[in-house]
Amino acid sequence: MPEIDLSADLAGLGLEYFWMNGSGPLAMPPDYVMFSGYRTGAVVGKTIDINEIMGNETPNIIQLDPDHINNSIGLSGAGISGRKGEFVECYPNIKKPYIESIKPQETPEATQKMIYLLCGLYRAAELNASCPNVEGGMRVGQDPGLAEQYSYACREAMPGGKPLIFKLTPNARNIGEIALAAVRGGADILSLVNTFDEVGKDYSQQRQALGRPPGGISGRGIKEKALEKVGEVYQAVGDKVPIIGMGGIETVRDAVEFLERGADAVAICTYLFLDRPMEISSQFNPNGTVKGFLNGFKRGMTREFRRLGVSSPRELKGRYFREAV
Ligand SMILES: Cc1cc2nc3c(=O)[nH]c(=O)nc-3n(C[C@H](O)[C@H](O)[C@H](O)COP(=O)(O)O)c2cc1C
Repeated sequence: MPEIDLSADLAGLGLEYFWMNGSGPLAMPPDYVMFSGYRTGAVVGKTIDINEIMGNETPNIIQLDPDHINNSIGLSGAGISGRKGEFVECYPNIKKPYIESIKPQETPEATQKMIYLLCGLYRAAELNASCPNVEGGMRVGQDPGLAEQYSYACREAMPGGKPLIFKLTPNARNIGEIALAAVRGGADILSLVNTFDEVGKDYSQQRQALGRPPGGISGRGIKEKALEKVGEVYQAVGDKVPIIGMGGIETVRDAVEFLERGADAVAICTYLFLDRPMEISSQFNPNGTVKGFLNGFKRGMTREFRRLGVSSPRELKGRYFREAV
């Protein structure tokens, strides 16, 4: 039986496992340290700004139906200025490659300054060009010209050898065009999807309950649409640009589908964190813990690869399109 290799290279990042968390609910550096001890390939930080962001009014997360979550958190967090002590205390203890998610600033130059302030304390940076919950949060991800300029500016500001990830929004008119622009600018890796503006069902009444409507939609109900977006981006950029796929992933089967649409790695957000404690094992928690989920995910993925007769995620990349012809 061939050895199962669950690693991913991702432009030199070198992940032990090809899965990680999606940016967001994991928000405090001490939690990054804890999470890094679990079976994850990388740790992705909550999107950070220069200064503190208070976030939007509550309620900032509502359940639309069993399959869809609607959030309008609004990138709340201490900011680089408020995280100084934590940089020193926590970052050196993060045991997996740490990916800093950064908020695009007013201009590409201001975003470069922000990157300089981070002093390279990350293994990769992800430009979150796709947040629907702050003013202008999707501007860069919806305009090919801006996508290229910001990508270029960030790539220039980052130390060599540290990959730049560009996080795409599914709410762009042509996501393939934005992906190509980001790569032209210098992005080394693409990630997608961030939350959806709409999913083809009218939830407008319910969404008004959010402190800052309409928010962005995530959860298992977005999976099919997210897969389509990953496929579009893969077909636009081809095999050379690594892709981190996400959107509604709950099971190893879901993750395999993302690989088959062209992803090299995957991220899990809503299902991993919502209603699930990190590791306080409690018989009263029906969803189990984040740590337990990731242990099961590794075991399940190994079994699934054996069942499929493949030995690495690379063999599955883009298979959906090869088999379709
Ligand atoms: C509560 C919540 C907060 C989020 N915050 C961020 C964020 O700070 N930065 C970001 O790039 N994406 C953020 N996202 C988007 C997720 O990273 C992910 O792209 C999206 O939810 C789709 O994946 P999922 O269906 O597995 O949640 C957030 C999502 C949720 C549900």
